[in-house]
Amino acid sequence: MQSAPGHTRHTEQIEAHGLPALRLRASGSEALVYLHGAHVTSFSTAEHGELLWTSAHSHYAAGKAIRGGVPLCFPWFGAHAARKDLPAHGFARTTSFVFDGSEERGDSVVAQLTLVSSPETRGAFPHDFVARYQVSVGRELKLSFEVENTGADMLAYEVALHTYLAVSDVRQVVLEGLSGASYDDKVSGQSGVLQTDEKLRFAGETDRVYTSTARVTVSDPERRRRLIVDKTASATTVVWNPWVDKARRMADFGDDEWPQMVCVEAANAGSHRIQLPTAARHGTTTIISAETT
Ligand code: BG6
Repeated sequence: MQSAPGHTRHTEQIEAHGLPALRLRASGSEALVYLHGAHVTSFSTAEHGELLWTSAHSHYAAGKAIRGGVPLCFPWFGAHAARKDLPAHGFARTTSFVFDGSEERGDSVVAQLTLVSSPETRGAFPHDFVARYQVSVGRELKLSFEVENTGADMLAYEVALHTYLAVSDVRQVVLEGLSGASYDDKVSGQSGVLQTDEKLRFAGETDRVYTSTARVTVSDPERRRRLIVDKTASATTVVWNPWVDKARRMADFGDDEWPQMVCVEAANAGSHRIQLPTAARHGTTTIISAETT
């Protein structure tokens, strides 16, 4: 990256909620990215306003994940398979990334953040890696998370770009793009359920891991807009809303906030985890945008 941190027209290094962050601006859009977890908490466009949801009850503190935006789940998704002492969704979202600079590319500004394995990460995940995260802000938000195996052994990992979309009321929205895909239902415990309906509506707690590479749209009639989650090199899509009871059980989630969000996550999880031989790289990308309906 050529430009020194803070020196480009579109990138500002700021402090938000007491933590170092970047404000990126391009093409009338604006994003806020915390170095803590490389966590994007806001993306707004001139035409469509805010596309991401962040809880008013979120923690902003070392060791705690921010609730909302786009938590970066790595190197595992959900609970750790073997160790109960390790945090859900991996350590990336609670670890500080290094800001390597930003540059203008076409109509966008692109910031690069890096996380390199350390004695601390090896305690939870015994592998050497370099993870590079590119946050591209323009008419759309493009997030690319690339992992390089810098160790001598095979590296297997899961990843999710855990995007919380802002909606007017999850009970009114229609999600499309997943019909024909099968999913594991974390609420009922069933595996390999076929999504037959073209349109998915929400009527209760929803927590599904779909095997799908497809683009997903979420139509929000009240806002008169459709949110679009596109992706590349991602074999699974997670769809999540906690509904009433689960929202109540989460300290960093307001009891009445659950209707305002739905997560659509570009992931490589479960049996679709990424297997990287020595020196190999893999990048998972999601692209978030909106259109008027
Ligand atoms: C989703 C999972 O991706 O994240 C859910 O599928 C989980 O099971 C949710 O509840 C939130 O996880 P966390 O660790 O941020 O509370």
